[in-house]
Amino acid sequence: MRKPLIVGNWKMNNTLQESLSLIEGLISNRLSVDRDFVVCPPYTVLSLAGKLLKETKIQLGAQNMHFEEKGAYTGEVSALMLKELDVSYVIIGHSERRKFFGETDLQISKKIFTALNNELLPIMCVGESLAQREGDYHHRIIKKQLVEGLKLVDSSRASDVTVAYEPVWAIGTGKTATSEQANDMLGFIRTILINLYGESMAENIRILYGGSVNSSNVDELMIQPEIDGVLVGGASLKSDEFLKIMTYSDRG
Ligand code: 13P
Repeated sequence: MRKPLIVGNWKMNNTLQESLSLIEGLISNRLSVDRDFVVCPPYTVLSLAGKLLKETKIQLGAQNMHFEEKGAYTGEVSALMLKELDVSYVIIGHSERRKFFGETDLQISKKIFTALNNELLPIMCVGESLAQREGDYHHRIIKKQLVEGLKLVDSSRASDVTVAYEPVWAIGTGKTATSEQANDMLGFIRTILINLYGESMAENIRILYGGSVNSSNVDELMIQPEIDGVLVGGASLKSDEFLKIMTYSDRG
């Protein structure tokens, strides 16, 4: 049985002071032990967040890392540096990194490999653009991103990877994929994972949906059989809103 996973991606938001009040708002509440929770602040906040989240139900994630272990890569951060700050998860290949920083499937595959070698749990993002969906080749795009991005991951490590399907046209637009569209694509992703790793291993891999998730649509998404969790951007920046998402369907 896969445990639901709720992840907040803060992107390039929140100073130390803002982060402090956001995290304090999140940890003052009782959270279900049957779900996993992760927040991914910017690098500058990881140290503080690691201290505040110690001994809580919320784990720490980073938004990116470099694929080399160390060296002359000005401005970059390594997996080991993240481990030192009590980071457990790392988002890899977010569509904003692909779009604004030219990240390729090859780089993404190396990052996932390095993350796993350093005992970080990668959250690998895949997603198609609006033109690709309207051109009806979104399945082909997702398959390519998965197969190329996972090519350095063998089946013994596959269950440590989480896949997040985030259609680019649904990110920050207020336009969520319908729960059926999301469920359909996640089912397709599962069949690819089964082809790559076999049924019993692929059954352990969590697949998330992301793109304009909020407290009003999370329940409908989370009842879909293929959806194991959500990757939340904007709605993870306010503690009361993100708490409602974390406690989906528990609310009276
Ligand atoms: P929004 O929830 O703001 O659409 O962002 C989704 C996202 O990109 C999370 O990684």
